Amino acid sequence: MNDIFDRIWEAALPYQDKRDDAGHAYVTYTYAQELLALEAGNPDVVLPAIIMHDTGWSKLSRDERFIIFKDGVTPEDEKAVRFKHQDEGVKIAHAILEELRYDPQLSLEILEIISEHDTRDYFISLNEGLVRDADKLWRFSEIGFRADIERFEFDPEFLHDRIEAKINETGFFYSEVARALARRELAARREQYGILLEGVEEKRLEEISVEQYAETATI
Ligand SMILES: [Fe+2]
Ligand SMILES: [Fe+2]
Repeated sequence: MNDIFDRIWEAALPYQDKRDDAGHAYVTYTYAQELLALEAGNPDVVLPAIIMHDTGWSKLSRDERFIIFKDGVTPEDEKAVRFKHQDEGVKIAHAILEELRYDPQLSLEILEIISEHDTRDYFISLNEGLVRDADKLWRFSEIGFRADIERFEFDPEFLHDRIEAKINETGFFYSEVARALARRELAARREQYGILLEGVEEKRLEEISVEQYAETATI
């Protein structure tokens, strides 16, 4: 691993994974590397940004961090907390980049990406798109999928269908490569949880009904 990314990783470590999402930083960092192997983004921007993007959660109270998992929360409450974790993340990332004497121009771009990684309705650049793609791929990963089943008490099949629908939603993923990775991950989750594709399931039901029809037809 590149030494500077190692140092950023080490510096950010105390602030990571603060929302019952152990592994979020590592998994999203790995996806970012995979995306960069297939897309022409700048690793010197994308990798520091993905490593530090959620460090800001560490500065919020437990109540604030888990607000989106509570009943009766208004969209305004949720939004306020999202902005706060972004603002705090920028402060932490800024301090780390300064400490490591990271290139000021690249640092500006990294901080800009972190500043609205969860709240922008549009993508501002290839680098930004790849960071947000890597972040969203978390939901499709083995660890992220399991975390959502536990945190939201979702049925695996329900969660599968829900995130599958996201893949082709306009504005969800930036890159086609991320969509392909998401599909690959979902196929692995189906295998893991014994989830049948809708078409396959329908086919089985058809077979059953044909048999049932045959039984009733003899009466
Ligand atoms: Fe975030
Ligand atoms: Fe994240």
